[in-house]
Amino acid sequence: MLELNAVESGYGETQVLHGLSLTAQQGRVLAILGRNGAGKSTTLKTIMGLLPLTSGGIVFDGQPVSGRPFETARSGIAYVPETRDIFPSLTVRENLEIAARRFSRAGSGWTMERVLELFPRLGERMGNGGAQLSGGEQQMLAIARALLMNPRLLILDEPTEGLAPIIVKLIHDKLQELKTDGLSMLIVEQNFGFATSLADDIIVIGKGEAVWSGSAEDIRADDDVQHKWLGV
Ligand SMILES: Nc1ncnc2c1ncn2[C@@H]1O[C@H](COP(=O)(O)OP(=O)(O)OP(=O)(O)O)[C@@H](O)[C@H]1O
Ligand SMILES: [Mg+2]
Repeated sequence: MLELNAVESGYGETQVLHGLSLTAQQGRVLAILGRNGAGKSTTLKTIMGLLPLTSGGIVFDGQPVSGRPFETARSGIAYVPETRDIFPSLTVRENLEIAARRFSRAGSGWTMERVLELFPRLGERMGNGGAQLSGGEQQMLAIARALLMNPRLLILDEPTEGLAPIIVKLIHDKLQELKTDGLSMLIVEQNFGFATSLADDIIVIGKGEAVWSGSAEDIRADDDVQHKWLGV
């Protein structure tokens, strides 16, 4: 459903992606792994149009992606950045309402009630300001907000970063629920166990290009790949 073909991109003069190709398939979870600085976040930002594509192509459901963040979101790709980017001065309710209003799409399923069923904790925090939330609550809010956009593909950059083990487990269970529900996901994650237990397919990036791809089972069994490209 999402295809990157020989993608090049970077920051001004600094080229980071050097001909990266990958495919995320409908109804499956693809995890991008790789060491620090390999270009994982750069890949996601390029898909979303936050960084310019300097060469190559990106196609989502048969259409080239626009290269403009708002239109990309409208086309059905929701992105939860590493920084989560919730509005700190707005309440949880306001954060959710903005997403629900901007992206309401008739009949596509995610409503305020439904995201609060998924994350009851947010229901208890509706009147709290974004800045008063714990890291775990912020991550739940960021995911809830992304779901309210009713995406066909959910992209997450390091969803467990900085979170306590019990919250990591909760986020894992919720994403597993979404996967069972049939939502397609693309995840960047440093936590190898988290990524490989959730994902069906894995792609490893090294220095801006794909250096390995295969199934989650395969990489779990492959110590050499883990050692060489991930330092696990
Ligand atoms: N805003 C920026 N300006 C210039 N260079 C950047 C910028 N952000 C990242 N880079 C560089 O681009 C390269 C890839 O960074 P990127 O953030 O994509 O890595 P990553 O794989 O997500 O790593 P991490 O695991 O640390 O999040 C790195 O060499 C990094 O220093
Ligand atoms: Mg990153």
